[in-house]
Amino acid sequence: MIAARILIVEDDRIVARDIQHQLSRMGHVVVGMSASGEDAVRQACSQQPDLVLMDIRLEGEMDGIEAARRIRDAHRIPIVFLTAYANDEVVHRASLTEPFGYLLKPFEEPQMRTVIQMALYKHASDTKLRLSERRYAATLASIRDGVILSNRDGLVDFMNRAAETMTGWTAAEAAGQPLSAVFVAVDEETLEPLEDFSAVVLRSGDFAPPERQSRLLPRGGGEPAGIVVEERCSAIIDDRNEPVGSILVFRDLTQRRRIAEALRTAQADLAHIGRLTMMGELAAAVAHEVNQPLMAIVTNAGTCLQHLSQPQPDLDKTRVVVERIVRDAQRAGDVVRSIRALARRTPADPGWVDISALVADTLELVRAELRRARVTVETDLQAEPPWVHGDRVQLQQLVLNLVMNAIEAMSAEDLPERRLRIVTGSADGWFRVRVEDSGPGLGDTDVDAIFRALYTTKPDGLGMGLSISRSIVELHGGRLTATPGASGGSVFEFVLPVSPGGK
Ligand SMILES: Nc1ncnc2c1ncn2[C@@H]1O[C@H](COP(=O)(O)OP(=O)(O)OP(=O)(O)O)[C@@H](O)[C@H]1O
Ligand SMILES: [Mg+2]
Repeated sequence: MIAARILIVEDDRIVARDIQHQLSRMGHVVVGMSASGEDAVRQACSQQPDLVLMDIRLEGEMDGIEAARRIRDAHRIPIVFLTAYANDEVVHRASLTEPFGYLLKPFEEPQMRTVIQMALYKHASDTKLRLSERRYAATLASIRDGVILSNRDGLVDFMNRAAETMTGWTAAEAAGQPLSAVFVAVDEETLEPLEDFSAVVLRSGDFAPPERQSRLLPRGGGEPAGIVVEERCSAIIDDRNEPVGSILVFRDLTQRRRIAEALRTAQADLAHIGRLTMMGELAAAVAHEVNQPLMAIVTNAGTCLQHLSQPQPDLDKTRVVVERIVRDAQRAGDVVRSIRALARRTPADPGWVDISALVADTLELVRAELRRARVTVETDLQAEPPWVHGDRVQLQQLVLNLVMNAIEAMSAEDLPERRLRIVTGSADGWFRVRVEDSGPGLGDTDVDAIFRALYTTKPDGLGMGLSISRSIVELHGGRLTATPGASGGSVFEFVLPVSPGGK
């Protein structure tokens, strides 16, 4: 038995006391006794009983039915009426307050026990049901999917907020309307009308057909062309396994498609930026590599002019200088071609290259710079093969960049000695070139950073030399590294495979 806290409302004090005794015997607690409707409403509010036993005729203005109505509206406390008469009019008025039971006076204790138990039990299950309904309502209100419930005749029973937004109907307007009028689905492309999905479910008796994509037309038709939705529908089945309605759930695909579209655009933009970056790096590389031959051409052209301004110009000497200009101009052209090949990630003009000879040639190219910076050069070059398979111009650019960096590092500092040492040699299938300087070294500079394009610590540097050099080495299947020198300075070393393809 459920023990309950009960309020007795009865104007006959003797009857009230009698009921109180009976309730106590049953194990219930009487939390108050009122003789008037007004007092009953007050006590129900302050005591919050589990149940009110309510006489209909009371002292004062307010009768029991009115008091019951107020208590139910304000507190949802279950009411059981106690009454000596049950004429139709009274019963009708009382029934409007949704009482949980009637006890006709005079009544016996067992009768009262049963009515009270049933009232408490019904109240408990009503509360549970209301809670569960609220839970569903809150869930349906908070989800973004549209939900429409229809009855077995295909008429709308309920729709949630998302469904209201997407269909343009309010739940109140849609209630009782055919689902096919509220949710007008057409083929996404052809705009042919589609059969109402819930009708399919109810006719076929299937629990749920596969989901489909459709276009949901706006209320009243016309523009805009509606939204594309994904629909799912399930039958609602009763205890006898009969469909009693359907639930249609649909989702707006517009946003998902917009995100996918934005992603595609972003990817295209990124590819474009990638190309632009490459173009920028290409331009920087051309500027970087062509600078050296251009400077040489300017210097030699100046020398030429000096010769020619003599009263008796020495034409043989002048010819030698002009030949140098031609050679440098050709080299500039070769360099541009090799950089373009580098950007395409292919060796421009592969062949067998004698790296040691190439180092010697390169030192020849920068003789003027070496002299100006007062750098002593030491070499230890392996004269015999193996040779390396690769692009001569690119490999020369590589050595030139490393040598120029070494010269620049040493000219910046006030150094006791300026020594450039280049060693070449082969072992284990690799050809090794080591360029060592006695400059300030890399200190605590991040070694990875110096290889990045546009990283420079020089006021007029482009920061391209090492990034181009690393690309060249990698394109030839080798590796370029930087380490501190044994006695200060820095060591740039690269290895290249001696057989084609870097195997
Ligand atoms: N031999 C070296 N000794 C010390 N630091 C070096 C040496 N070589 C390169 N670095 C450092 O690495 C940086 C990047 O070199 P990188 O050749 O890529 O560009 P840069 O020489 O600054 O400019 P440029 O594009 O004109 O060659 C240099 O600015 C310098 O700080
Ligand atoms: Mg450089």
